[in-house]
Amino acid sequence: MTIQVTDLEAQLQELGQNAQAAVTECQTLDDLEQLRVSYLGKKGKLSGVLGAMGKLDAGDRPRIGALANEVKELVQTYLDEKRTALINAQLEAKLQTETLDVTMPGVYRLQGQIHPLNGLIDRTLDIFVGLGYTVSTGPEMETDYYNFAALNMPPDHPARDMQDTFYLPDGNLLRTHTSPVQIRYMEQHQPPIRVIAPGRVYRRDTVDATHAAVFHQIELLAVDEGLRFTDLKGTIKEFLRQMFGDLPVRFRASYFPFTEPSAEVDLQWQGRWLEVLGCGMVDPNVMQAVGYDPEKYTGFAAGFGVERFAMVLHQLDDIRRVYTSDLRFLRQF
Ligand code: DAH
Repeated sequence: MTIQVTDLEAQLQELGQNAQAAVTECQTLDDLEQLRVSYLGKKGKLSGVLGAMGKLDAGDRPRIGALANEVKELVQTYLDEKRTALINAQLEAKLQTETLDVTMPGVYRLQGQIHPLNGLIDRTLDIFVGLGYTVSTGPEMETDYYNFAALNMPPDHPARDMQDTFYLPDGNLLRTHTSPVQIRYMEQHQPPIRVIAPGRVYRRDTVDATHAAVFHQIELLAVDEGLRFTDLKGTIKEFLRQMFGDLPVRFRASYFPFTEPSAEVDLQWQGRWLEVLGCGMVDPNVMQAVGYDPEKYTGFAAGFGVERFAMVLHQLDDIRRVYTSDLRFLRQF
């Protein structure tokens, strides 16, 4: 028995409509896959309808074949579109549940910071490196020669009194200033020299609000042909300007065994003059101690008191505070 071509056409159209309705209802990717198999799979509904094609008149087959292809493509399109929609919905749901609120406050972590004294040392070195200086250091345990004798302070020199220190059993001592780095550096280098040397120094002083047994200095040394006191003054003034801004500066005549002439430099801070450094032209005896010809070379030197800088810049009343590691104090910087 042959079947009517119109029956098959109707069946195919119905199949297409049913598939569309089923796909629309479908809620999950798994269900969608099942729908695909049930409509387009080898044993699916479309194959079922096409199985009846054999019973058609040969002349009708191309028409039905073409219609079957159309329906198949249509169903495939419904499936594809739904699939995309379901995947997007899934992603959307995931984004909803995994939302990050970037405006929420972070977790507070206690963070370390540079100690105020180290901060001042770093700034000083930066300024001098910017002026062409090289950073150097020397040992905290020194010999009498480097700390005193080579700096024009022979054993009986009265200036030693001002720098009483701690002596070690072997006759060495804890350096009383960073000036011995001048000697060590000059022994190792030939002029022209531009060097800046930070370090810890020791004095057997009475400890009070402005004196500590251990403190910090930064040594400056320049040796070249033709250096003059104006070079020293200009260098110091430029440094103080970069470090402290435009505070009034005063050079006062002074005395150090290793410089001639010598000066102390004060800064005016809140109506008071505060001494922040000593300086001068390198004494010819010091040049001779390292084998430089004092007729050919001149030089200038300075020693900065880092704690004095701290007292000016941070308005400290008692220098001992910077050593006590009291976080309530240190956190203010
Ligand atoms: N060394 C001196 C001190 O500790 C400071 C000083 C003064 C260093 C004059 C220098 C200088 O280089 O030229 O008191």
